[in-house]
Amino acid sequence: MLKKLIKTRRSVFPAQYTQGDIPEHDLLEVLESGRWAPNHRKTEPWRYKVLTGAALDRLGDFMATAYSKVDGHKKFKLKKLRENPSKSSAVILIFMHRDEKESVPEWEEIAAVAMSVQNMWLTTHNLGYGCYWSSPKPFANMSDFKGLKIEDNERFLGFFYMGTYTMESQDLPERKSIEEMVQFLNH
Ligand SMILES: Cc1cc2nc3c(=O)[nH]c(=O)nc-3n(C[C@H](O)[C@H](O)[C@H](O)COP(=O)(O)O)c2cc1C
Repeated sequence: MLKKLIKTRRSVFPAQYTQGDIPEHDLLEVLESGRWAPNHRKTEPWRYKVLTGAALDRLGDFMATAYSKVDGHKKFKLKKLRENPSKSSAVILIFMHRDEKESVPEWEEIAAVAMSVQNMWLTTHNLGYGCYWSSPKPFANMSDFKGLKIEDNERFLGFFYMGTYTMESQDLPERKSIEEMVQFLNH
């Protein structure tokens, strides 16, 4: 069961979303699984901001406006950035909270957030929804997004797009073999 879930998890993009509803209890189940990731010194560095409803349309406008200032002539990309949030049922903004004492190296905090996101990704998949992690856009400073409460020590790590979609069974994509990625040493 776990093996199947891990292997069949995919990045599902907004173009594939059917714009159905993801009920709040499912969103909470996804976020709940994010709470249980391993983390060094119990810093629990993950912070999430969940955008739904009108906030999604605002996010699309925000991204398009920010992008048009740097690369406005690329109309296709501009359209995609504007429309992707509205095609989604929810977008979770992913942040890493750096504790004041800096008790562990920053890479460990980012790694812990990634483990939390993987928990959420697998839970989203298990519930039958699609999602993917989109890297932070260098042109979009989320601290300018109206209504968001972002602390100085929170670093933005990207967008977790979520949506309903029609899951079809697919062949597994190519991945490196065990031999290519592992060295076994027993002496
Ligand atoms: C930290 C992180 C950032 C990512 N950023 C992007 C992104 O900006 N754009 C994108 O299309 N996919 C992004 N992805 C998704 C990867 O492209 C995807 O996971 C990879 O192609 C493997 O496909 P799979 O998730 O279906 O196995 C990101 C994934 C991770 C883990």
